[in-house]
Amino acid sequence: MFQVATVPEHGINTNLLVLFISESFVKKRKKDFSLFPDSVQATLQQYFQVFKDFKGEFKETQLLYQSANSGVQRILLVGMGDEAGLKCQDFRELGYTFQTVQEKLNTKRNHIYLGNLRACHNTLIENLTEGIYFRQYRFDQYKSDKKTKPTNTRYIFLCSKDDYSPRFRQAFLRTRKIMNGVFLARDLANQPSNFATPRDIKDKVIQHFSRYSTIQVEVLDKKELEKLGMNALLGVAKGSSHEPYLVIIKYLPPSSNKKRVALVGKGVTFDSGGISLKPPANMDEMKYDMSGAAAVVGSMEIIAHMQPKMEFYGVLPLVENMPDGSAMKPGDVVKSYSGKTIEVLNTDAEGRLILADALAYTVEKIKPGIVIDFATLTGSIMVALGDKRAGLFTNSDELKNVLFKAGEESGDWLWPMPLDDIYNKELESNVADIKNIGSRWGGAVTAAKFLENFVGKTLWAHIDMAGTANDVKHLGYWGKGATGFGPRLIAQVLKGLNKIL
Ligand code: BES
Ligand code: ZN
Ligand code: ZN
Repeated sequence: MFQVATVPEHGINTNLLVLFISESFVKKRKKDFSLFPDSVQATLQQYFQVFKDFKGEFKETQLLYQSANSGVQRILLVGMGDEAGLKCQDFRELGYTFQTVQEKLNTKRNHIYLGNLRACHNTLIENLTEGIYFRQYRFDQYKSDKKTKPTNTRYIFLCSKDDYSPRFRQAFLRTRKIMNGVFLARDLANQPSNFATPRDIKDKVIQHFSRYSTIQVEVLDKKELEKLGMNALLGVAKGSSHEPYLVIIKYLPPSSNKKRVALVGKGVTFDSGGISLKPPANMDEMKYDMSGAAAVVGSMEIIAHMQPKMEFYGVLPLVENMPDGSAMKPGDVVKSYSGKTIEVLNTDAEGRLILADALAYTVEKIKPGIVIDFATLTGSIMVALGDKRAGLFTNSDELKNVLFKAGEESGDWLWPMPLDDIYNKELESNVADIKNIGSRWGGAVTAAKFLENFVGKTLWAHIDMAGTANDVKHLGYWGKGATGFGPRLIAQVLKGLNKIL
């Protein structure tokens, strides 16, 4: 449970008091301890006089004990490094760092002291809380030995009287809503493919969203997809024993402003490559190839709670890409839902095929003002941007600006990529309207150009999140497995989208 309060006048009663300390504070010859609560000043003074262990480096921690019967039992120093240079992301990491220690101690009452920081505001509290949540995430469904989750843990943020505002409580509510969406996305993406077939995901989505009166879920099964002529999507599903689905999650607020946004997510529950089979090394990671769909589901969960006035549609093409006797083969031609024919030269470039039909259907049937798709689309985006930023391709400068900014703020970082028409040359086919791969170079761009063929004139952004979806290195708070990339971005961009539409 999270709370915010002013520093109590008659001493703090706590199992653990967290103090953020900068490098420059540690270096100061004459330290001013008056910024800290009275009950810990003597301990701090003694500690810093005698010991030089703690430097105040970013994410460095040091635990100090006071006597068991004193109001403040333990003090945890958490290094901030250079306080002036700290960004949102750094506070997420600091929250995560603190939570790592808290977990070990399993302290019930935890006070996080913000009185010595330059400023105390909603964003700072949100970022710290988000870091704490990220640390608390577990995916242990398949472990026999589950760690029991501690209950009744309280986190009380303490602000100085001058800084305090009761509005800070909003920070916890907002962060909880956002993290529920992130965790839902992570839970879905972390599922192994034998427990997350297209049918499993479809069922889970129906079950999950049945709790909201503002949300309806529509499902198109294989027969209906055949009737509609979604042969690009069906072509990918052909080699699998699991039937495909197109799931449409509709958020319709009671007082809608009639503006419509569609989020489309690549949902390949396992990508073996199909007949253009992938090499065995790390093929297990292809269970994450539905992280785009997971991002959309997580975003819709947040939307259900944030209740924007715009209508939101989450569109999930769900398929498994496998090679069997009936699988699509290199050289096959499929007629997509849009009417355009596609020569499939590589069955491993399947994401763009299912998205081609999902995007064309979305644009035609839902008629949104804006479409944003999330997809673990290409290995090539990882070559370009590594695993820290996702590629942002869009036909609208306005959309580029609001999404990029929301990325910086939310921690789901993006980087703009090109969409010049000259790249279309790469996709010219000898036998069909278009082929599904370009040459070896610039694969993320040609993939995006391919998708552009199916969105018409609609404002559209494509987010290639192949690098950021799972097992990101050096950003500790994302942990192992699925990161839950996407929902935080959507939560942050809601206002910006409303302005563009
Ligand atoms: N799902 C993959 C992209 C991917 C690769 C995601 C690595 C995460 C990690 C996608 O379907 C794919 O196989 N793309 C191919 C396209 C190529 C055949 C044109 C790629 O990027 O190699
Ligand atoms: Zn593939
Ligand atoms: Zn794929």
